[in-house]
Amino acid sequence: MPQTLTVELGPRSYDIHIAKRLGDEIGRVAGQLNLGPACLVVSDSNVDPVYGDGCENSLLREKFSVGRAVVPAGESSKSGEQLFNIYEQAINAGLDRSSFVVALGGGVIGDLAGYAAASFMRGIALIQVPTTLLAMVDSAIGGKTGINLPQGKNLVGAFHQPVSVIADLNTLRTLPLRELRSGLAEVVKYGVIHDEDILTMLEGLEVDKLNSKPESLEEIIMRGCAIKADVVCRDERESGLRAVLNFGHTVGHAIEQATGYGRYLHGEAVSMGMVFASRLSVRLSGMSESEYDRLVRLLDHLGLPVRMPDFSWVDIRKAMEKDKKRAGGSIRFVLAERLGSVKTGIAVSDEDLEEVWNGCR
Ligand SMILES: NC(=O)c1ccc[n+]([C@@H]2O[C@H](COP(=O)([O-])OP(=O)(O)OC[C@H]3O[C@@H](n4cnc5c(N)ncnc54)[C@H](O)[C@@H]3O)[C@@H](O)[C@H]2O)c1
Repeated sequence: MPQTLTVELGPRSYDIHIAKRLGDEIGRVAGQLNLGPACLVVSDSNVDPVYGDGCENSLLREKFSVGRAVVPAGESSKSGEQLFNIYEQAINAGLDRSSFVVALGGGVIGDLAGYAAASFMRGIALIQVPTTLLAMVDSAIGGKTGINLPQGKNLVGAFHQPVSVIADLNTLRTLPLRELRSGLAEVVKYGVIHDEDILTMLEGLEVDKLNSKPESLEEIIMRGCAIKADVVCRDERESGLRAVLNFGHTVGHAIEQATGYGRYLHGEAVSMGMVFASRLSVRLSGMSESEYDRLVRLLDHLGLPVRMPDFSWVDIRKAMEKDKKRAGGSIRFVLAERLGSVKTGIAVSDEDLEEVWNGCR
């Protein structure tokens, strides 16, 4: 039986199901949601060949009529071109306002298909079926959808909550190990911001065996989803509290940007960002040296990078300018008081930032 938890958002509440057999769940869940008969399953060129038929058959068994849209795998599909491709497939599949979109894939598909659902006929229902660890514990929950523009990431989008999230642990069997490790970085973040027990569980993980034993992640994924769901419930539209989720992300984003988004996966950059934020936390917000050492050891155990890349501070500082503008002049950090508890909105001087950067290389 799947484990279920609810994202409480009044009339927009929905369940997250952690299942072990995708084929069994999607049709059953959609069937209980009173959705119109036509749907479009959106996936990418890696995921569709492995999981597309199982998803379609599950929906067919419940008498839905099913169209399929497949986009090339990768971030470049979060584009206007692929969005219009999906609209066209939606029309071809006979979707109307009562229909729904199934986003079957990682965060790229969740964001792209999610935005298609948010905008097609002024918004139709969306079921998120995340197949990467990052999407299961993070991007499929919370309703942020969108595409990129040539000028930057996620510049067009909408808040559009799914009507259900169905995460099948078995899909992690085919996820490349590097992607799995990258997803673990976001789980570490949940441990630091809210739940130290997650860190203890991660310390006991046999990382190299995760593809063959994805069930060992079940409890960790449940806890991660619960934290994301709780933050979303309390701050659906990102007016403040969701900032806690940015632990490690200020410098993580800067590293991704400075390296042209090609060298590191998101979670790898966040891992380095968390080391940086933790070093700052020892200096400024009460985290102990032993907690810092424990975190670095854990990230290393998970196969994530813990040393800053060989970039000069000037380059990283420049990449952080966007965050600075957004925060109205000074860069604000989320820092840890101890493992399991953080403070947001902490202004940090340029001198502290530079010294910590140079100290972490
Ligand atoms: N909406 C949000 O709140 C939110 C939060 C975080 C990240 N994001 C977005 O998520 C995206 C990154 O997501 P991602 O890391 O899942 O990347 P992704 O969707 O590109 O997936 C990573 C790779 O794994 C492949 N893949 C996916 N599932 C697989 C499976 N089960 N087996 C084999 N291969 C599989 C994909 O084809 C792709 O090549 C970014 O665009 C980011 O902006 C959104």
